[in-house]
Amino acid sequence: MVGFENVEQEQEVWSFLKQKFIPLKFGYVGNAAYTHDKLAFTDAYDRAIKLDKDDYLKTFLQQLNISTIMDVGSGNGNNSSKFIDELMQCKLNIFNYFCCDFSNSLSKLCISRLEKKYPFIKFEQVLWDIENEKSDFLLKYLSNENVLLVLLGNTIGNVIDVEDVLRNIYNSARAGDKFILEVSIKNNNIETEKILEDYNNSIFIQAATESLRMVGIDTNKGNHELYYDKKREAVVVDFIFDDKVVLSHGKEEITFYKGNVINSFISRRMKKESIKDKLNFVGWKIANIIENEKNTVALFFCEK
Ligand SMILES: C[S@@+](CC[C@H](N)C(=O)[O-])C[C@H]1O[C@@H](n2cnc3c(N)ncnc32)[C@H](O)[C@@H]1O
Repeated sequence: MVGFENVEQEQEVWSFLKQKFIPLKFGYVGNAAYTHDKLAFTDAYDRAIKLDKDDYLKTFLQQLNISTIMDVGSGNGNNSSKFIDELMQCKLNIFNYFCCDFSNSLSKLCISRLEKKYPFIKFEQVLWDIENEKSDFLLKYLSNENVLLVLLGNTIGNVIDVEDVLRNIYNSARAGDKFILEVSIKNNNIETEKILEDYNNSIFIQAATESLRMVGIDTNKGNHELYYDKKREAVVVDFIFDDKVVLSHGKEEITFYKGNVINSFISRRMKKESIKDKLNFVGWKIANIIENEKNTVALFFCEK
């Protein structure tokens, strides 16, 4: 293994590898943070997962009386920066901005960029695996003030269990806290080939297969396959071995044979109703839902 951030990550990724699967969260850590960083500056990345500026977003933000943002899955800071600009245009005085991420490398990169651009905001790193647990950060350190939590850029479409993540975020918030969720949604009128257009480029493929190289797989010893999986309603990248490969970690070994497949990337296109049901089920009260013109990305405005 090369390029992970700590031994815990190596142990966890190894246990998933035995199930022929690498969760996407490992596609952002250590070495992979820098390939994701390149990807996150491309127009195709923005097209696939971002909603253009919207009047309702402005109205919602203008009504808020908050000075603290919890940006969950903050990434490389590029979209956080666009979001902060939006907050400033709405005359919100933001004092604290928490960059919460599983990736130490990516959140450090994010904070160093944002600190330079917004010297009047205090940025802080919160290392948090939203798939594993709730965070007690807000309960512990911000007892008197409501905050806005955001999960931007279809991060929810990348996780193993959507409901678990929405519940973990809900359980980390306090009564009165607000939550904005940005999701790439299923639009039956758009051909799957059209969806794949934004992914079919070398920068994306490099990012989607980086975690394979980090666990020691020579990606020349097989082929990646990028496709839209109708069963899972998701853009997927699989790696198919064309030769026998033995990986070892400590005293353990895993053997992959010709034809074996590992999944290393998933980006779901969920139905709006399904997200709505999940948000309601875990307890979030939905104040509004807005979509872009093409009905490919939605923002859910919620409150605890
Ligand atoms: C698709 S990127 C979105 C980044 C940014 N919000 C944007 O809009 O460009 C997903 C982000 O979520 C983080 N992430 C993925 N899985 C995570 C997990 N289980 N816990 C915490 N963060 C996670 C990644 O490290 C990355 O920063």
